[in-house]
Formats: sequence, C-alpha cells, structure tokens
Amino acid sequence: MNVDNFRLQLGGKEYVPIIIGGMGVNISTTELALAAEKLGGIGHISDAETGYVCDRIFNTSFVSRKRKKYIQYSNNPDKSAVLFDLEEVAEAQKKYIDYTVSQKSGKGAIFLNCMEKLTMNSGNETLKVRLAAAMDAGIDGLTLAAGLNLRTLDLIQDHPRFRDVQIGIIISSVRALSIFLKRAVRLNRLPDYIIVEGPLAGGHLGFGPDDWQALDLKTIFSEVLAFLKKEGLNIPLIPAGGIFTGTDAVDYLKAGAAAVQVATRFTISKEAGLPDDVKQHYINAREEDIVINMASTTGYPMRMLLQSPTLRYAIKPNCEGLGYLLENGGKCSYIDAYYNAIADRKPGEPIKVKEKTCLCTGMANYDCWTCGHTAYRLKETTNLLPNGKWQLPKAEEIFLDYQFSRDHSIKLPEPELGS
Ligand SMILES: Cc1cc2nc3c(=O)[nH]c(=O)nc-3n(C[C@H](O)[C@H](O)[C@H](O)COP(=O)(O)O)c2cc1C
Repeated sequence: MNVDNFRLQLGGKEYVPIIIGGMGVNISTTELALAAEKLGGIGHISDAETGYVCDRIFNTSFVSRKRKKYIQYSNNPDKSAVLFDLEEVAEAQKKYIDYTVSQKSGKGAIFLNCMEKLTMNSGNETLKVRLAAAMDAGIDGLTLAAGLNLRTLDLIQDHPRFRDVQIGIIISSVRALSIFLKRAVRLNRLPDYIIVEGPLAGGHLGFGPDDWQALDLKTIFSEVLAFLKKEGLNIPLIPAGGIFTGTDAVDYLKAGAAAVQVATRFTISKEAGLPDDVKQHYINAREEDIVINMASTTGYPMRMLLQSPTLRYAIKPNCEGLGYLLENGGKCSYIDAYYNAIADRKPGEPIKVKEKTCLCTGMANYDCWTCGHTAYRLKETTNLLPNGKWQLPKAEEIFLDYQFSRDHSIKLPEPELGS
C-alpha cells in the first residue's frame, strides 16, 4: 500500500492527500506551493512578512516606504506609533496571492498559512485585512496557525467567501481544539479541516523545550480523532510533524487521517526559498544540532539549527521597516532584550543579546534556520555530489516519493547530468 491508494475529500473536491505546510518567511515559495498543486496535492504559501516578500519578488518598496515614514523611531524603544498602513497590507497580500494562484495549472489547491501571532502592532485589524485580501485574491484555503486567536472567524464572518473558502486550524492538543470549536459552533462555521501538529514539527511549536520528548504525534492524533468521534464531528484530520517517508504517511492514513502535512523534506528542494548554501547546512545537520529554544519573540518555543546565524548577531531592532512581530502597543521582547543588553554592556565589549533574536530580520534574511526534528535525516533523501555538496532534489521528486514509495524506502532524485 502507498499514499496513492488514498484521496483527501475536501470542499467537494478530491486531492492527493499530501499537503506541503506553510513555511515563512518565503521558504514555502510560490514555486513550491505550485509544485504540489500541479501534482494534485495542496501547497501552502505563508503570509508572514508579505510586504517584504513582495519587495523581493516584484521590486516593490513596501518596507523602505514604511521605514522612511517611521525613521524617527529608530533609536526609540517605544514603537507604539509604528503602525502598518492597512491599505498597503491589503495591497501586498493581494499582489502576492494573485501572483501565486494565477499560475495554478493542476487539480490541486493553494492554501495560505496565516500566522496569527504576527500581530503587526494591531492584531485584529491587520489579521482581518490579511484574511479578507487573501480571499479577495482567490486563495483556496486559509490555515490558521500559531496563535489560536478566538476572534478570527468573527473578523471575517461578513466576507462573501466566509462559507465557501476552506478554513483549517493547526492545533497540538484536544484542549486547544475544543476552545476553538466553541467559538466556531456559535458562528455556525466549523473548520473544514484540522491539522494536528506534533512535537517533531518545524517552526513554532505547541510544546516546550522540556516536554516535547514526552509527547508524540501518534498519541495526540488518536486523542483528537477520538474527540471528534465523540462529538459526532466529521472533519478531516491531518497529522503533521515528523512524517518522513511515504510509509509513515500510510500509517496515519490507515489510522483515519484524511491527509498528511509535511514540510522538512521540502526545505531542501530546488523550489524552497532558502539559499542553496543554507540548504547544504540543513542536509549536513546532525541530530544534536537541532534544538528547541525560546529565541523567538512570539513567546512560543521554536525548533532551529544551533548554527542559525540569527542566534549570534545583535542587531538594532528593525521595527520601522519590518515590525511584523510587534504586539499591540508596539512591544516586542527583542526590543527589551536589546536595550537591556546595551545597558549591561561593559565599555569596549560587543552587544550580547541574551535569549531573544530579532525574528523579523532573522526570518527575512534566511538567518533563522528553523526545521523539523527529522532534518538530520535529510542526507538519506539525496545524492552526495563529487564536489562534496549535496544534490538539491526537485519538489516534484519529493512529492512523488511520498506518494508512491513503500516499505519506508526513499527514492533518491535523478542524478543531475554532469554531477
Ligand atoms: C522551515 C520551516 C518553517 C516553518 N514555518 C511555519 C510557519 O511559518 N507557520 C506554520 O504554521 N508552520 C510552519 N512550519 C511547520 C510546517 O508547516 C509543518 O506543519 C511541519 O513542519 C510538518 O512537519 P515536518 O517538517 O516534520 O514534515 C514550518 C516548518 C519548517 C520546516
């Protein structure tokens, strides 16, 4: 049996049950999402730092315009006045999503991973604009991630697509799910799919640095499945985190999963946004290099490679141009950590910021190397080239390996000509 024996039924459509998870900032690129869509699966783009992403793709100037507008705050730890222009937020969102969905060529779908913790100094207002603009631009689905904002559905309930766009939520426990469902039931708008993310996933986690090893996706998945059954809810359940082979996926599909969400194996694909030399770091990662820490300013634990450059530099907060992680009122734990470090610095010493990193800048520059726990196995998935570097597989090759492989085998990419 392989993944191809199963299909995901969602919104009256049928998909290959492989979903590439959202990876901000622009690691899950348009090209990566489209590769899944072309093959009949579902690809995510992420709406983290969309203005910045637009500037890179389309040469727009969202970031520089904002920086110019707020330049007088660059030496001021109080960033409460550094607000996003909602029209510009909508413009960037529409531009990026339209660019992506207009290139669809298969029978799959393109979903948006919406990181709700990206509060942009005005949480609900910016979230509403981001989601509305995504629906206006024709996104097929919205995956609500990292934040569990109980007001999200209320914010978009008047949008004409509220009941037709696919809406999903990422949770890591029955508790989080049941809290969200209470609100959803009141609006008579249940999620169309639920992603249950376990402790081996990449990005931000619903598990702490000390408790993740005591928990496992299989157990949480069974608990959520049992909960849905008990409540009489027939909502597709999609496990994520550590599903490394097609056979891992089949195990979940046989146990009642509607599809699987995967990400780490695609980080090294040609289409993923990470620079090629960073992809080499991912493949060379050893298990002991992969850590969970509290460096993220969101307050959530995050998994990343110890070698991430962002853990080593102390830059001035960059909120005038970026500022995506500013909480309401213009706060960010990195601003506090940075100014504390300046106050503590001994004359002649460099600034050392403890524990926190400027995540907006680190993610934008591909200096925060977040990954799933299985990243240390990436070397099993590709060929070592004569020049000592690893071949970067095409997303299509990884997708088809998930779809058709059996017995935990992994099909290596076709060796490149001349390599
Ligand atoms: C590099 C990377 C970045 C990620 N960024 C995000 C993100 O921005 N938002 C999110 O909800 N999940 C994020 N994730 C989690 C994935 O979408 C996915 O659910 C999870 O990593 C799947 O597990 P796997 O990586 O073991 O296959 C990220 C994962 C990776 C590997």
